[in-house]
Amino acid sequence: MAASPFARDVVAGLSARPKRLSPKYFYDAIGSELFERITDQVEYYPTRTEAAILTDHASDFATLIPAGAALVEFGSGSSAKTRIVLRAAKDLGAYVPVDISGEFLDAEAVRLRADFPQLTVLPVVADFVETFGLPPEVAGKPLVGFFPGSTIGNFEPHEACTFLRNAGDILGAGAKLIVGVDLEKDSAILNAAYNDKAGVTADFNLNLLARINRELGGNFDLACFDHHAFYNRERHRIEMHLASIKRQKVKVCGETFDFRVGETIHTESSYKYSIDSFVALARGSGWTSRAVWTDAEQKFSVHVLARDGA
Ligand code: SAH
Ligand code: AVI
Repeated sequence: MAASPFARDVVAGLSARPKRLSPKYFYDAIGSELFERITDQVEYYPTRTEAAILTDHASDFATLIPAGAALVEFGSGSSAKTRIVLRAAKDLGAYVPVDISGEFLDAEAVRLRADFPQLTVLPVVADFVETFGLPPEVAGKPLVGFFPGSTIGNFEPHEACTFLRNAGDILGAGAKLIVGVDLEKDSAILNAAYNDKAGVTADFNLNLLARINRELGGNFDLACFDHHAFYNRERHRIEMHLASIKRQKVKVCGETFDFRVGETIHTESSYKYSIDSFVALARGSGWTSRAVWTDAEQKFSVHVLARDGA
């Protein structure tokens, strides 16, 4: 039987030096629930800050989103913040949440349909870095992209560029894209946000090993790995790692991987931008900045981009 992309990526990532795993694999049903719990932690400021920015600008959505348009959300998760947009853009033709976490996406679509009975909800289970098709029902409708949460920060900057170009191709000429981007700030605030006292971010990180055990027959002992998260100021990013607390061997997919004491698996980067550096990245990826909204403390930003030529 051919190995799944997950199996192939895990074997390749654990064979690499330094060891790494893609953050997209955090999000099975358990990982998606854990992410939702992260958003409730006092230290994790991005979600509530972005929600407040969207609420402050709710009236702008009515003008930004043409009547009958389809709103395409990349990495929709629970669509919690999207509800602010959905309430404001009353003439929406359809909502297309796109997410890799299929079970969670389907459950959230059921809840959305109950809460917004007039809205056509068309979920798409897909990896948004791969080519994927939009549902046929949106053909001919103007498209507006929505990419909140600073999920764009989980890409390397060159990958963010590729993503923005692909999003431009998917959304087509004349499209707009609303992107949430976390901003550079005091490292104490950043370090606290990724090391919440309740340990939910640690559980989210460790769930990746639990998922490998569940789905790939791995034998990771979760008690033998520590959550490490810190702000790397030179690279403008939070790095999340899982550090081996001892010398050990782990089996996955029938292969054995050796860990030194303290050796880490790099599981996620979360890049922080300045407003100018993100506007420049967007410009280099075929998008023009039309507006930037922030909170009073400039913790988080929401960018309204228009496809060049629009
Ligand atoms: N938009 C929500 C959720 C952010 S968490 C918010 O702002 O709170 C990141 C979301 O992106 C998760 O739901 C995860 O499942 C999804 N995701 C991560 N990588 C993905 C990928 N490569 N393709 C599709 N969805 C992805
Ligand atoms: C989804 N993404 C933007 C989150 C972040 O902040 O980078 C994922 C996350 N990782 C740890 N906490 C939250």
